Amino acid sequence: MPWILGLNTGFAHDASATLIGEGRIVLAVEEERLDRVKFGRGFPRLAIERCLKTAGIGWGGLDAVGFNVDPWRMFRANLAFNLRFLVKPRAFTYAAFYLGSSLAPLLSDLREAEKIRRATEGTLKPDFLDHHLCHAASAFYASPFEEAAILTIDQRGEDISASASLGRGTTMTRLRTVHWPDSLGMLYLSLTLHLGFQVGDEYKVMGLAAYGAPAYAEAFEDLLQDDRRGGFRLNPAYFDYLGVERCFSKKFYAVFGPRRRRDEPITTRHRDIACSLQQRLEEVLVSMAEHLHRETRVPNLCLAGGVAFNSVANGALLRRSPFRRIFVQPAAGDAGTSLGAALWLAHQRFRQPRYAPMTHAFLGPAFTEEQIEATLQTCKVAYTREPQIAVRVARLLADGAVVGWFQGPLELGPRALGGRSILADPRRLDMKDLLNRCVKHREAFRPFAPAVLAERATEYFECDHPSPFMLFVYPVRPEKRRAIPAVTHVDGSARVQTVRREDQPLFWELISAFERLTGVPMVLNTSFNVDGEPIVCTPTDAIRSFFGAGLDYLAIGTFLVSKHPAADPGAALSSLALSEPSSG
Ligand SMILES: [Fe+2]
Repeated sequence: MPWILGLNTGFAHDASATLIGEGRIVLAVEEERLDRVKFGRGFPRLAIERCLKTAGIGWGGLDAVGFNVDPWRMFRANLAFNLRFLVKPRAFTYAAFYLGSSLAPLLSDLREAEKIRRATEGTLKPDFLDHHLCHAASAFYASPFEEAAILTIDQRGEDISASASLGRGTTMTRLRTVHWPDSLGMLYLSLTLHLGFQVGDEYKVMGLAAYGAPAYAEAFEDLLQDDRRGGFRLNPAYFDYLGVERCFSKKFYAVFGPRRRRDEPITTRHRDIACSLQQRLEEVLVSMAEHLHRETRVPNLCLAGGVAFNSVANGALLRRSPFRRIFVQPAAGDAGTSLGAALWLAHQRFRQPRYAPMTHAFLGPAFTEEQIEATLQTCKVAYTREPQIAVRVARLLADGAVVGWFQGPLELGPRALGGRSILADPRRLDMKDLLNRCVKHREAFRPFAPAVLAERATEYFECDHPSPFMLFVYPVRPEKRRAIPAVTHVDGSARVQTVRREDQPLFWELISAFERLTGVPMVLNTSFNVDGEPIVCTPTDAIRSFFGAGLDYLAIGTFLVSKHPAADPGAALSSLALSEPSSG
C-alpha cells in the first residue's frame, strides 16, 4: 500500500495537505486551521508536518507527492494572457503586476519540489498535476458512484476555468474544458467585489440574492452567454481588463451602476444585482448539466471547484437538471485539490482500487480526552465531566443556550458539520439576531443552517436527497417554516445538513435528544469561529474562542465548561436573549 501526499501549495488560497496510506485517507487538513491565518496562502508546511507526524513517517516514507497545479502551465497561461495588455498604457501596470506576481508561486513550487527531491536523495520527484484534474478526482473518487458525470467549475486552474468529464471505476475521461478568461468563478467574485464585499465573500452574495428581484436578468443574459454546447462565454463588451479587481468596462458600469463601497448601505440595486447574478448562474449551470447528461446518459453527477460551494445552485441542479444524485465533497474548493491530487495518484499511478466513499468530513487532527483535560487544567478553566454529554447539551440548547461543540477530528472544508460547531435552538425567532450580534459578528441578512436527523429531513424540507456536507439548499415545507425560524431564510429555504447515525453517532444522539425534548429533530449548526478567524482546531483554540465570544457553554470531549454557574443557567440566558433589542 503506497503512502501518497497530496498538496494544495496555495498558489491562490486554501493551502492544504492530504495523506493517503494503508488504503485510506489518513489525514487531510487546511493550513489556515493550523497557522490560524485565514485562507491559507503559501506552502502548507504545518499541514504537511501534521500529516507525516500522524503517520509516523518522514519524507523518505512517501511513495509519491502530488502538487495540485502545474506551475509552468500556469505561468505560460499568465504570460499569454497578459502580454496583449502590456501594449495598452492603462492596463500595462496591472498586466505587469500580475505577470510579476505569478512568478512567485512558480518559483515557490519549483523550490519546494526541489527540497523534497533533495530530502529523499532524488528518490522522490513530486508530480505537478492539472488543477481541474485534481478537482475532478477529489469529487469522483470520493463519491459513492461507480459511474458519474463530473463538472469542475472555479475561477481558474492553469488556463482552464471549467471542465466536464466522465468517471468510470478508476478512470476519468475529459470531455471538454472552458478556458480562461471565460470563468464563472471569476464572474461571481468580480460581482462580489462590485457589491462591496471581499475576496472569499461569494456566499454573502448568494445569501443576499434571496432579498432581491431579478431586475437585471436581461443584462446578465447578455453578459453571461450559454454556448449551448455544454459551456459558456463572458461577453467581452462588459470587461475592460479581466483577471483583476477593476475588470469592468464603461458598459458594465452604465448597466449595473457604480461599485458599492464597503461602508455604504446595501440598497435595492445591490440586492437585485445579487439576485439576477444568482439566477443567471443557475440557468447556465443547469444548461451545462443538461448537455453533459445528454452526452453521458448516467444518473449521477459529481461537482467540484469553488462554484460547487454555491449551495443554492446545487439545490437548483438537483431540482431542474436530469441528474438524480449529485455528490459534492466537503472541500469542493481548492483545499480539496490536495485530496484530489492524492486520490488521482493512488488510482492512476498506483492502480489502487477505489477506496471507501467519503461519508463524513472528519479527516483533520483529533485530540484525546487526556489532551483536552490537560489543556483545560493548564488554562485554569473550571469544568465538569459529563458522561452523557450529548443529552446534557440537548437540554441546554432547549433551554436557550448557545453551545460550542468540540468533538472528534476537525472537519475538512469550510463547513462545521458537528466536529467544531456552535449549536443553538432553531425554534427561537430571536436566535439569528442573537448569534449575529453576540457570537458571529456578521451581516444580519446571512442565514444559519440546520443539522437534521437524516431520517426525518423530508418532514421539514422538500427534498429527499442526502446533504451530509451542508452543500444543498432546499425549500422548507411551508407548514414547518414557523417552527424553525432561526434556520429558515427569507425566501423560505434552508442550507441543510443531514446527519446519519452511522456517520456521526454522538451528533446524531444530541439531535435525537433535542427532538425528544422539543419535538424538532434538528439543531442550528454554525461554524466554531469568531471575528473572521479560521474554524478552531485545537482545544486551546476552542477555549480562546469560547471566552472571546457570546457562547454560554463549551462541550469539549466529555467535559462541559460554563459561563453560567447559577442554578438555572438556561433560564438566565433565555431572558438575556429576549431582553436585548434586535439588531435587525
Ligand atoms: Fe480551483
